[in-house]
Amino acid sequence: MPEKLPPDFATALFLTTERRGAMGDPAWYFSETGSTNDEAVKLAERGAAQGTTVIASAQTAGRGRLGRDWYSPPGAGLYVSVVLRDPRLAGLVTLAGGVAVADGIRTATGLPVEIKWPNDVVVREGRTRDRRLKVAGILAEASTSSEGLQYVVLGFGINVRNTAFPPALAEIATSIEAELGRSVEGAPILAETLAALNAQVTLLTTGNTPAILNRWRALAPTATGSVIEWERATERTRGTTAGIDDQGALLARTGDRTERILSGEVRWL
Ligand code: BTN
Repeated sequence: MPEKLPPDFATALFLTTERRGAMGDPAWYFSETGSTNDEAVKLAERGAAQGTTVIASAQTAGRGRLGRDWYSPPGAGLYVSVVLRDPRLAGLVTLAGGVAVADGIRTATGLPVEIKWPNDVVVREGRTRDRRLKVAGILAEASTSSEGLQYVVLGFGINVRNTAFPPALAEIATSIEAELGRSVEGAPILAETLAALNAQVTLLTTGNTPAILNRWRALAPTATGSVIEWERATERTRGTTAGIDDQGALLARTGDRTERILSGEVRWL
């Protein structure tokens, strides 16, 4: 059952009312749920309007991309899903979501996060090393019918608190607090991310996709000049990233060819 929105969340949402547009309106809060994406899908199926947002302080069945789990213990992070409905959002909504989360974290905390294709939100480890650690992830799940897009649920998980990760994650994940070396509040991060999402949604619905792509490219230095491996048919292929195209596909140079990578797992070397 949804509960009363905690006061710090209510205040942060109130302070960003104008910049958030419909995002976060209404906001449903759960101290714990299975997956906020599942709760948002239920609401969307019942006709919830664009911007309807589900927020949880813990998830017992948080989902990540490629069938993975999303580590969501109580109080460690923000687990949020937003219902989007405008058919003009189809296509670049995942990239726009990555930009929104990265910009929301940057505005609220000053942490200079980057995006790693398709939309992992990462932070550079140390000054000299090229390794990136994941701070946040985005999972967009769409429902379509013969009439086209019914809705998209855009879910994002942000590692806020400095909590111990399980061994498998400790090598690849970090939190905003661990990176900044100080405590941070989750509520302003939520509110600024919803405001940034509203800005991205406005760009998408007014057809200003170049602005989204340009911002994405500025936030994603590893999308150019990084050595990667990916699965092509059944074989693994190695190449060097060469940016994204206007549909959001990752481009990679391999020999004298440029390949488009649309989905699936990319290994960054
Ligand atoms: C990824 O694999 O990087 C995507 C992670 C997305 C996690 C968020 S947490 C809120 C929402 N609910 C879920 O079950 N998943 C998304």
